[in-house]
Amino acid sequence: MSQENTSDNYVNSVSPICEDDAFQKKGHSARTLSSEEAEKLAREQVLVSDFKKLKLEKEAQKNWDLFYKRNSTNFFKDRHWTTREFEDLKACREFEDEKLTMLEAGCGVGNCLFPLLEEDLNIFAYACDFSPRAVEYVKKNTLYNIERCKVFQCDLTKDDLLENIPADSLDVVTLIFVLSAIHPDKMHLALQNIYKVLKPGKCVLFRDYGLYDHAMLRFKSGNKLGENFYVRQDGTRSYFFTDEFLSHLFMAVGYEQVVNEYVLRETVNRKEGLRVPRVFLQSKFRKPLSET
Ligand SMILES: C[S@@+](CC[C@H](N)C(=O)[O-])C[C@H]1O[C@@H](n2cnc3c(N)ncnc32)[C@H](O)[C@@H]1O
Repeated sequence: MSQENTSDNYVNSVSPICEDDAFQKKGHSARTLSSEEAEKLAREQVLVSDFKKLKLEKEAQKNWDLFYKRNSTNFFKDRHWTTREFEDLKACREFEDEKLTMLEAGCGVGNCLFPLLEEDLNIFAYACDFSPRAVEYVKKNTLYNIERCKVFQCDLTKDDLLENIPADSLDVVTLIFVLSAIHPDKMHLALQNIYKVLKPGKCVLFRDYGLYDHAMLRFKSGNKLGENFYVRQDGTRSYFFTDEFLSHLFMAVGYEQVVNEYVLRETVNRKEGLRVPRVFLQSKFRKPLSET
């Protein structure tokens, strides 16, 4: 499901992103569809039944847990790009050797967390995930060290982060390919939850699927749950964001927008021998210094 998964049998799998950033473009314009792509999307408007939608929502946690049962820790590639692409993480420091306290929200099995802890020794990271199995994998990782991180199970839309993290205490929160897995009607609940633990003046670093990403165009008829929202074969769901939708979502909770842009890339799908267009949204939203 992810932009950088390693499994070939995943319904929307594509090979890992080529390291050649020459293909990468950033900006405020969404990707333009070819006429065939536009026709395909227009044809596939049949929605999943309300009964199935409700079932998927009820079983969201179970489906993610089963995902990790099937794939163990082998599905996602480690995300060594985190610091490269989020230079902002470094910019979160006011002085050079300042210790950062962060939250990796929806950490999965730690593909983002552990490279980060390895690259930056001056970080304490909280990490949480919906799936108890994913949390156990993080705890079992040889790099897991309670002096440097604390992982816990949590539904970001329901469980109060204040049970594990002091109010207004975090220098940064990363939200990487997580919001897309949450029903659009509940996304604001996750953002409100995160807001409480972020220090005033500090940011959420966001990266997720953008509108018309290759993964969105690969969904077949019968997988559509709503506008820009789809379900995979395994019951996990994925939303594809426009910059406008994301901006409204964060700002309605009280965040200020710092950066919100599309990242357009081309990826080589080695199995099919195709170059495919990937679209992500990379953004940064700040909790204001003083609340109005
Ligand atoms: C695509 S994975 C990304 C994992 C990780 N951020 C990464 O980049 O490797 C999405 C993760 O979001 C988690 N998730 C989905 N809904 C959630 C929720 N309501 N609360 C917390 N985590 C959730 C899933 O369990 C899954 O591990």
